[in-house]
Amino acid sequence: MARIIAGMGTSHVPGLGAAMDNGKTGEPYWQPLFKGLEPVRAWHKDNIPDVTIIVYNDHATSYSLDNYSTFTMGVAEEFMPADEGWGPRQVPMVMGHPELAWHITENLILNEFDMAVAGSLDVDHGLTVPLSVAYDQPDVWPTKVIPLCVNVIQYPQPTPLRCYKLGQAIRRAVESFPEDLSVGIWGTGGMSHQLGGERAGVLNPEFDTAFMNNLVSDPAANTRLTHTDFIREAGCEGIEMIMWNVMRGALSDNVNEIYRFYHIPVSATAYGAIILENTD
Ligand code: DHB
Ligand code: FE
Repeated sequence: MARIIAGMGTSHVPGLGAAMDNGKTGEPYWQPLFKGLEPVRAWHKDNIPDVTIIVYNDHATSYSLDNYSTFTMGVAEEFMPADEGWGPRQVPMVMGHPELAWHITENLILNEFDMAVAGSLDVDHGLTVPLSVAYDQPDVWPTKVIPLCVNVIQYPQPTPLRCYKLGQAIRRAVESFPEDLSVGIWGTGGMSHQLGGERAGVLNPEFDTAFMNNLVSDPAANTRLTHTDFIREAGCEGIEMIMWNVMRGALSDNVNEIYRFYHIPVSATAYGAIILENTD
C-alpha cells in the first residue's frame, strides 16, 4: 500500500524563490535564511518520496476571485509554473501523479469531502517556492507532486478543524492505494504576516512558536483556533497556516520532530519550517 512517511510545514515567500532565481542567496540579507535551510535540504535529499502532496494556495493567479473552490485536487500529468506578472519562474515542470490523485479524489468525495478537480492548473509561488526550499535548483524535481489547492484568500475559508479532518481523510485514502508508494505531504504558507492594510507588517513569534509546538505535541489545539484568532494574532495572510493543519492531520498522533527553523523577517513574513516524521 501507499504510505505517508513525513510532513513538512514551510512558508512560501515569493522573494525566497526570486533570491534563488536571481543568484542572490549569498547576499547578507538572505544568508541566514539559506543557512537555516541547509538541514531541510539535507533531510529531503535522503528522504525523497515517490509522490508529495503539496497543500498550497493560489494567490488569484490561476483562479480569479469569481471562480474559486474551497479544496481543489490537481489530477493532471504535469503543472506549469505560473506567470505571476514577470514571466514563469525558470524552475522545472511539476510532474503529477494522476493515478494517486484520482484515487484520493474519489476516496475523499465518497467519504463526504466534496473536492473540486483540476485537470489543468498553473502553479504559483505557493507551490514552487516550497519545492525550491526542499530541493534547491535541480534540473528535474525529484518527487512527483499532487497539488491540493485550498482557498485561504476569499471569505468564507474552510475552518482549521475542517483542514485537519481533510488531512486525516487523505491519510486513509493514501493507505487504501494498492501500490507501494512513499508519500510526503507539505503544508505551505504563513507564518504570521500581513501584506496590506493598517496592520501591514504584523509578525508574531509567540503565536508562531506556539503553533509549531502544538503541531508536534497538541495538534488538536491548532484546530480550535478560529479565523479571527489567525487574523488578529498572525495578520490577514497568517490564515495561510490553516494549510499546515491538513499536513498535520495526515500524520500519526505521535510524530518525531526532525528539524525546525524560524527566521524573522523574510520579506514581510515570519519564515517558518518544520519537518515531522510519522511514527506509524
Ligand atoms: C509574501 C508572503 C506570501 O505568503 C505571499 O503569498 C506573498 C508575499 C511576502 O512576505 O512578501
Ligand atoms: Fe502566500
